[in-house]
Amino acid sequence: MTFVTSAHLAEHVDESVTLQGWLYNKRSSGKLHFLEIRDGFGIVQCVMSKRDVGDEAFAGAAELSQESSVAVTGKVSRHPKQPDVYELAVERLEILGPTSEAYPITKKEHGTEFLMDHRHLWLRSKRQHAILRVRHAIIRAIRDFFDERDFTLIDAPIFTPNACEGTSTLFETDYHGQPAYLTQSGQLYMEGAAAAFGRVYCFGPTFRAEKSKTRRHLAEFWMVEPEVAFMDLEGAMELAENLICSIVGRVLETRRPELQALERDIGKLEVIKTPFPRLTYTEAVHIIGEERAKQTEQSEAPPLEWGNDFGGEDETLLSNRFDNPVMVHRWPAEVKAFYLKRAPDDERLALGVDVIAPEGYGEIVGGGQREDDLARLDASIERHGLPFEAFSWYRDLRRYGTFPHAGFGLGIERVVAWMCALTHVRETIPFPRMLNRLSP
Ligand code: 4AD
Ligand code: MG
Repeated sequence: MTFVTSAHLAEHVDESVTLQGWLYNKRSSGKLHFLEIRDGFGIVQCVMSKRDVGDEAFAGAAELSQESSVAVTGKVSRHPKQPDVYELAVERLEILGPTSEAYPITKKEHGTEFLMDHRHLWLRSKRQHAILRVRHAIIRAIRDFFDERDFTLIDAPIFTPNACEGTSTLFETDYHGQPAYLTQSGQLYMEGAAAAFGRVYCFGPTFRAEKSKTRRHLAEFWMVEPEVAFMDLEGAMELAENLICSIVGRVLETRRPELQALERDIGKLEVIKTPFPRLTYTEAVHIIGEERAKQTEQSEAPPLEWGNDFGGEDETLLSNRFDNPVMVHRWPAEVKAFYLKRAPDDERLALGVDVIAPEGYGEIVGGGQREDDLARLDASIERHGLPFEAFSWYRDLRRYGTFPHAGFGLGIERVVAWMCALTHVRETIPFPRMLNRLSP
């Protein structure tokens, strides 16, 4: 018996092969069963004729319920009309694991909570399959991008003694009697590694105890964080736009069928190209103000004042002005993290950058140039009310050969949401962790 997956049927036309998978769908017409077999790589129509398999086997197949696991042996043929589509003329059907009860996910509409409770089964559906294949392509594109540019992959720890992105979203845990936190970002470790390897990146899960329910926040999300020695804010922006273009290019190149299955407007991805528009925070505030005014003549929303962070709606208003992602840089230091360097020409500003995705998918990148002066860093740690002790190792990086450096973090799930045109991040990760969800 030759076992094949649906991805390799083209190599076996006119041969008899065995396909192992699950029954996705079944139609019957008198003396024929049309069995759609899902094997993880695709879905193959297997045509079973009573004449070929006999009455008993034919009757057995009639009883087969959705998602039963089977091994189907049959001759491969090319679909007469559709290119790249292959069928099996069934010679033998072996039932490996029948489903004992009705499969919970049927063709009828299910509520999101129901589907989330059955996430372990929901992954088998066409749409989830397409999304997670796009996710994989994005991750491969990211790794290739950095590996091809002489970056060294440096894994950051998950247990950390200090906060990186503010103390309000820390998950605290007990580390042998001492408090520890699940990492919010590997950045501080990448700064250390940049002095050892020049160009580094980490890629792993990061954690934020986000207390509000939003479409864009997960408690556990994956972030890639490059950090580069002797790079400034401009350099970080160039690196970010090149990375994003490289991801979009790869998804278009390798995941078109998935994007089509998701009914993604592909034209909106095809126009993405460098250079992305760059706006200072002050310019962006101005545009958002104009857009807000346009939206409602007598706007109920309070005006966006200089010095405030953007809300999700503000990001959407801003992104609607552009086809490409937009890079907002030079932020009021108060709304940004302690480690950013102040603008040399304006003490109020931090050399940070946020990249906002088009079409209202929100912030996909946050980063900037780091404070490399010890006295200024100390003043910032103090202003933010952070404990000096926990940052003692980090301060060493400014004591021993301090150097200008910059980097950023790109959130994988936000990029998946954008590529697949998903309004909520819950479907962008195999098993989402959110405010009210730890299971399955
Ligand atoms: O802007 P953030 O908080 O930046 C940092 O963590 C920096 N230390 C990164 C660095 O410079 N090395 O997060 C970076 C990105 C955001 O732009 C967003 O895409 C994503 O991470 N992100 C989240 N994604 C899903 N759920 C959440 N709760 C997220 N928080 C941030
Ligand atoms: Mg941010």
